[in-house]
Amino acid sequence: MCPQPIIQLCNISYHYALTSSPVLHNLNLEVADERIGLIGPNGSGKTTLFQIMVGLLLPDHGHVLFDGRNMDSEKDFRLLRRQVGLLFQSADDQLFSPTVLEDVAFGPLNLGYSPEEARDLASGTLKELGLAGFEERITHRLSGGEKKLVALATILSMRPRLLLLDEPTNNLDPATRNRLIDILMGLPQAQLIISHDWDFLARTTSHLYTLEHGHLHRCDHDHIHSHQHIHRYGDHPHQHSD
Ligand SMILES: Nc1ncnc2c1ncn2[C@@H]1O[C@H](COP(=O)(O)OP(=O)(O)OP(=O)(O)O)[C@@H](O)[C@H]1O
Ligand SMILES: [Mg+2]
Repeated sequence: MCPQPIIQLCNISYHYALTSSPVLHNLNLEVADERIGLIGPNGSGKTTLFQIMVGLLLPDHGHVLFDGRNMDSEKDFRLLRRQVGLLFQSADDQLFSPTVLEDVAFGPLNLGYSPEEARDLASGTLKELGLAGFEERITHRLSGGEKKLVALATILSMRPRLLLLDEPTNNLDPATRNRLIDILMGLPQAQLIISHDWDFLARTTSHLYTLEHGHLHRCDHDHIHSHQHIHRYGDHPHQHSD
């Protein structure tokens, strides 16, 4: 039996006001309790798709279902966003509090936890992500990779059912990228992950969609390939992302 979808997109079309051609064209997608990768060229509409899924953009046509219910008001989407955590492509769009702890505790506070509970949830989440000791750091002074992990913590502290991760490996060095893979694989939540990193998606997701010319295509076939390569500075210890 197919698992019950958490989110369904039905016949979604979207175009931005000043552009004539649609970014998304009559698109359908079901996300159940699974890990899905989403890949596609720059500008193909991946981020737009995530924004529609959580109600930050409203489609021209079509609708979003959450747990089988049609989301047709901002109130519906506010409830959806309590259970669907969106990691923004740019961490700077996600982080707004002076300190890391305040940022990570913000979501739980919003969900109605007491300040003590929210602080405990935030500290625990930072610890799980290897960020213990970051609590009092000034958010806007963090490095790009640190910001990305703290942004992930702001979502995980709310214990959502579904994670929408928009290019989570951006700004991460190879060791941190590998740590992120371990973290994501250890999480119980369903995940939909946008990335340009094929190897990352192969290691973190069980199937893949491509988005191109406004349409989604499911990639069902495995192709074994191997390659050798040579490059400058190759004698320095290093890892490859694909
Ligand atoms: N607010 C906006 N107004 C007008 N056009 C926009 C707006 N936001 C995005 N677009 C355009 O819509 C298209 C899809 O953008 P989107 O950010 O969804 O692509 P993407 O697949 O996430 O790309 P990337 O891989 O570069 O992140 C692009 O051509 C982009 O320029
Ligand atoms: Mg994008």
